[in-house]
Amino acid sequence: MATCKGLIDMIDWNRVRDDFPALKRKINGRPVVYLDSACMALKPRQVINAMNEYYELYPACGGRSIHKFGEEASNAYSKAREKFARFLNASRPEECIWTRNATESLNIVASSVKIPAGSKIITTSLEHHSGSLPFVERAKRDGLKIEVIKAQSDGTFDIEDWKNAVDNTTRLVSVVHSSNVTGTVVPMKEIVEIAHDHGALVMSDDAQYAPHHPLDVQDFDVDFSAISVHKMCGPSGMGVLYGKFEHLESMNMCLYGGDTVSDVRFENGKILPEYLPPPEKFEAGLQNYAGAIGAGAAADYLQSLGMHAIETHERTLLNVALKRLLENDHVKILGTTDINIKTGLVTFTVDTVPSAHDVATFLNDEFNVMVRSGWHCVGPFHYQMGIDPKKGTVRASFYLYNNMDDVQVFLTALETLIGASS
Ligand SMILES: Cc1ncc(COP(=O)(O)O)c(C=O)c1O
Repeated sequence: MATCKGLIDMIDWNRVRDDFPALKRKINGRPVVYLDSACMALKPRQVINAMNEYYELYPACGGRSIHKFGEEASNAYSKAREKFARFLNASRPEECIWTRNATESLNIVASSVKIPAGSKIITTSLEHHSGSLPFVERAKRDGLKIEVIKAQSDGTFDIEDWKNAVDNTTRLVSVVHSSNVTGTVVPMKEIVEIAHDHGALVMSDDAQYAPHHPLDVQDFDVDFSAISVHKMCGPSGMGVLYGKFEHLESMNMCLYGGDTVSDVRFENGKILPEYLPPPEKFEAGLQNYAGAIGAGAAADYLQSLGMHAIETHERTLLNVALKRLLENDHVKILGTTDINIKTGLVTFTVDTVPSAHDVATFLNDEFNVMVRSGWHCVGPFHYQMGIDPKKGTVRASFYLYNNMDDVQVFLTALETLIGASS
């Protein structure tokens, strides 16, 4: 198990790295510097082992079969939900629905919350496409009004814009808690208060927030939260939709079939279903048991280190990276550089190498530094900032397994490139 002494300054982050088998790899004789965790986090042994155990020892269907394997799978599946509920401080495990990813979580809410005709949905120019498009399409489908709040150029919001946009016709607000492109953390509590004052529900896109900050859904009082399990050391193809139970209960279903029903009668030539409450209502068919078990293990793993400790560690790394990048006239950082309202990532352009993909290729090929290049599924904000999405931006994202050596190699690699291309 990773070192966990409870105190932030007592965690040996270099020993934490030992939990991640992928970091043991050498490519062309050099270690890897993985700075793409905002896309996909590496997996610790604890998560891999929990999933392997399922596949090796009891690879059966949960919730249906009464044999020993089935019983073990059912128990592990529901324990995983309890772990996740604890991680989010949900008031009950049934408020956590397993999904394939945050995108699916956002789509379920966008398509299934009941919204009266004539109502308004609000979203922002900073959303990931998965946080805006499902709501844009819902508005189109039902002839609802949709209003887009424009982020400021540093990726923050003017709270007055929220006060002006949310009115008594607003029923749903979709907002990214922490941006995957600027890293900006929004004042979620203020936004929730404004929305709730007008009777609107808040869908918080926590894909980037949950892996890097303490997330207490009751404290934030969000109505829904979308989570990418694969960005928080969990398996790929797993997400979570958190919803307050009463909202999940009142929503429409989106998939019908096995495991969603308590009874299905056949009377007078008709098939008559009686549907189960959440979470089963939203989990039709055979589920990703290994994925859920891995998600529970990931939640436990992060909690064993402590989310405050993870946040502080990342900000320490980010601070060093930002300081050096800010000194470089050829680098332009997208979004705020205030680390107190920022997740551990930095997105930038380099004026000596206009295409972000060329920067990422150089860092990868010459230094094994793995960053992300492109528009990061946030086209609107790139257009707003006058950045050609085809040339894109470069994003370096830090996580709990990165260390100061990683930051130094990244900075050296970038400075080498800039030196060679100026
Ligand atoms: C802010 C944000 N929202 C939503 C998503 C979509 O997440 P997923 O890939 O789990 O569907 C991402 C993925 O990068 C993201 O960064």
